[in-house]
Amino acid sequence: MYDDEKKLVSVVIAAAGKGSRMGLDMNKQYHEIQGKAVLARTIQKFETSGLIHEIIIVAHEAEIEFCKKYIVEKYGFTKVKMIVVGGATRQQSVYNGLRKVSPECGVVLIHDGARPFVDLLSIADAINAAKDYGVAVVGVPAKDTIKQADRDDFVEKTVDRNSLWYIQTPQAFQYELIMKAHRKAAEDGFDGTDDAVLAERMGLKVKLIMGSYYNIKITTREDLIIAEAISRIFAE
Ligand code: CTP
Ligand code: MG
Repeated sequence: MYDDEKKLVSVVIAAAGKGSRMGLDMNKQYHEIQGKAVLARTIQKFETSGLIHEIIIVAHEAEIEFCKKYIVEKYGFTKVKMIVVGGATRQQSVYNGLRKVSPECGVVLIHDGARPFVDLLSIADAINAAKDYGVAVVGVPAKDTIKQADRDDFVEKTVDRNSLWYIQTPQAFQYELIMKAHRKAAEDGFDGTDDAVLAERMGLKVKLIMGSYYNIKITTREDLIIAEAISRIFAE
């Protein structure tokens, strides 16, 4: 049973990617939407949540000073405990961050720096579900029909849409579980596109939490237009 009393809730924000699909001359996390960098918007959400005790940012080695000065110090984020150097893959970056959370951590959230529109309710729901079930991921039901392709781009099969979810972040874990899962993946040379899959391959059950379609990952150019619109809607 999860012991609520003495434990902290930490978040690792992965921001050490290159943003190659975005094709800007800078890391997309530092691109400004309505005058405020994507990463600053993302950190703000966790700074504002009363449920989060500490924030670990994972940044590219060459961008650590910039991140410190133009994001953390500029906005005076008080919960940011450390900016950690990232790795070659997202998984390695997250693992670097996980190793730096407080020894008092009970639940850790892992979040993409490129998802600035996460809402406070999703953060709360993910934390509570991780306490109850060990692992919880935020997502939304698929809207499009999804087909699996073969190597020659013919349809192999149509997957039943009613059982399909788009998985986002935050993903929340009891700390010991995700550390074990990351250690095992590193040992096995397994590289996943999210963190929950590392828990799944350990046989752990992952609870799905209904999130929001606004919680987009800013990935390609058209996402910038959508991001501008979302930030206007919420006047963020
Ligand atoms: N990320 C990271 N370390 C890496 C790769 C990715 O911390 N080595 C982070 C990104 O900064 C991003 C999140 O993981 O916030 C999700 O990854 P993605 O959207 O793929 O971002 P990038 O890897 O930067 O983009 P691309 O794949 O287009 O290069
Ligand atoms: Mg990537």
